[in-house]
Amino acid sequence: MSNVTMDTIVSLCKRRGFIFPSSEIYGGLGSTWDYGPLGVELKRNVKQAWWNSVVHHRDDMEGLDAAILMHPATWKASGHTDGFTDALVDCKACKKRFRVDHLPGSGDLRKCPDCQAEIDLIKNPPRLFNLMLKTFLGPIEDESAITYLRPETAQGIFVNFQNVVNSRHRKLPFGIAQIGKSFRNEITPGNFTFRTREFEQMEIEYFVNPDNASEAYKQWVEQRFAWYQEYGIKKEKLQLRIHADDELAHYASGCTDIEYEFPFGWSELEGIANRGNFDLSQHAKQSGKDLQYFDQAANLKYLPHVIEPSGGVDRATLAFLVDAYREEAVKGATRVVLGLHKELCPFQIAVLPLLKKNPQIVEMAKKIISGLKKNYVVKYDDTASIGKLYRRQDEIGTLYCLTVDVQSTEDNMITIRDRDTMLQERISLDQLDKYLQEKLG
Ligand code: GAP
Repeated sequence: MSNVTMDTIVSLCKRRGFIFPSSEIYGGLGSTWDYGPLGVELKRNVKQAWWNSVVHHRDDMEGLDAAILMHPATWKASGHTDGFTDALVDCKACKKRFRVDHLPGSGDLRKCPDCQAEIDLIKNPPRLFNLMLKTFLGPIEDESAITYLRPETAQGIFVNFQNVVNSRHRKLPFGIAQIGKSFRNEITPGNFTFRTREFEQMEIEYFVNPDNASEAYKQWVEQRFAWYQEYGIKKEKLQLRIHADDELAHYASGCTDIEYEFPFGWSELEGIANRGNFDLSQHAKQSGKDLQYFDQAANLKYLPHVIEPSGGVDRATLAFLVDAYREEAVKGATRVVLGLHKELCPFQIAVLPLLKKNPQIVEMAKKIISGLKKNYVVKYDDTASIGKLYRRQDEIGTLYCLTVDVQSTEDNMITIRDRDTMLQERISLDQLDKYLQEKLG
């Protein structure tokens, strides 16, 4: 079934421990979410898959983990202090506040999306609202103590460009990757974890000789588009959207979004931008430091150009969840399956005792788990009948269920059930390692 709704996903996430509303016992805090026992595993796997692909499996990349709090001059240089704004307007009739670019129609007379009253943008001009979340560093809450929670991880990379070049003796082209929390005081958060005020980004700044920027941009678009498919997202649910010239920042020469068809429509998962040398030149100006790169081969100093693939961890995680969800008719009932990729699913294996009160079965099941733990994420579950346990494991994406029964304690054979085919095989415990090695690697 492909027409999954967001309500179905939100409900599964709550029921099975993927994602809970934040501070729920206090009524929740608008659009903030907590990743539960299953969600934290899935999100960690998404981040690891990204890190493997863009750092560990490449020779031209380094990792970084910069602080969330940065010198306020950073945001002056990057343009966020002056330009990271949304234009807002209040509806005089219902008193609700809207982003002007979210009002239907065009021109000066618009309609309130909520109460349908007319909004006259001449009589009721929009005001600019900065999206950065402010806080104060230290005990005195005055202007000089104002600091921001970073609205993107990217700037932590730019300000460390020279540290990485020097400490790692790097030559162009090379890139720096970082995963971390970012904060934006979004006016209209929503669609579950798609747009929130606290979220995680996975960003790359790839530094190149200006002559090679177009080629590197093209390669990054291809590689990032392929990554989502490699981890199981259906090709027909992904598309590239090339930004029109009037959408581009004045310094950028190209930007392509990778979009996924969520139940609420095609929406951005990641943007890949060809940003020229804007960021490094801004930081050089603001800090007074020379951030140029010395190209030994050409005996020349210049500011590298930058390709920026910038994705959201929460959005990717949501896309993997939505895409993996399917319902199947099985013997007159409906089976829900999360067909997650083997490297993304929270648990790879569940070990289920057929009779939980039989000490020999339980002992054997626990022994199997301790043998598998080193290589796989394995869970013991005896909280329901075997049929129900299979269904629950299907619903959270567990790849294999191993069942131990009375016969197992006699002949050392167990039943192994495949999540996707539901086929069950009886195999000897001596063969288990080899079997799993072949299936899971
Ligand atoms: N450094 C460039 C940058 O931050 P962006 O398009 O504003 O670009 C990059 O953000 C990615 O971060 C987006 O493609 C999206 O996946 C994620 N993202 C941005 N705002 C978000 C929000 N409010 N909630 C969840 N994810 C968000």
